[in-house]
Amino acid sequence: MKTLLVIYSKTGNTRAVGKEIAERLGADIEEIMDIRPRKGLFGFIRSGFEALRCKPAEIRQPSIAPKEYDLVILGTPIWAGRMSSPVRAYLQQLSGSFSNAAFFCTCSGQDYESVMKDMANVAKAEPVATLEVSKEKLVSQELASLLDKFVDRISSAH
Ligand SMILES: Cc1cc2nc3c(=O)[nH]c(=O)nc-3n(C[C@H](O)[C@H](O)[C@H](O)COP(=O)(O)O)c2cc1C
Repeated sequence: MKTLLVIYSKTGNTRAVGKEIAERLGADIEEIMDIRPRKGLFGFIRSGFEALRCKPAEIRQPSIAPKEYDLVILGTPIWAGRMSSPVRAYLQQLSGSFSNAAFFCTCSGQDYESVMKDMANVAKAEPVATLEVSKEKLVSQELASLLDKFVDRISSAH
């Protein structure tokens, strides 16, 4: 199964989780990149504001076509209770291009279900599996088994 993992990460958590998932599945990786940097307090406020307003960020042109993959796994941090604005931009640009999808998010521990639903709506793809990795789970012993289960759910859907 040809698998693509697409992530956006501002502070590294979503990237770290994504790399673990990609290794388990032998997936290619596309990292969504901002055009404008999001440093400091102003970057933090702008990020929260964009997410809350469902405003897509300006992102660099993706380099990999998701249509060429059997499965695309998309990972986002949660910002202000929503998907991050760079992931919204990516999903809007490529909406309808995902034959099979799975979603995950990293967060401080809230709003997971509504974010997964919003991603499905924007991507026009019903996920075969979803996963939430909270701050506690990220550093816990159970992370590896959570990721294994997520990968199993994805693999058994095919
Ligand atoms: C602007 C901003 C807003 C955030 N809002 C939320 C939130 O509403 N709920 C939540 O659980 N975590 C929130 N967080 C925490 C991030 O989702 C969490 O730290 C995530 O793992 C960051 O992923 P990253 O390291 O890949 O950027 C927010 C972080 C930022 C920068």
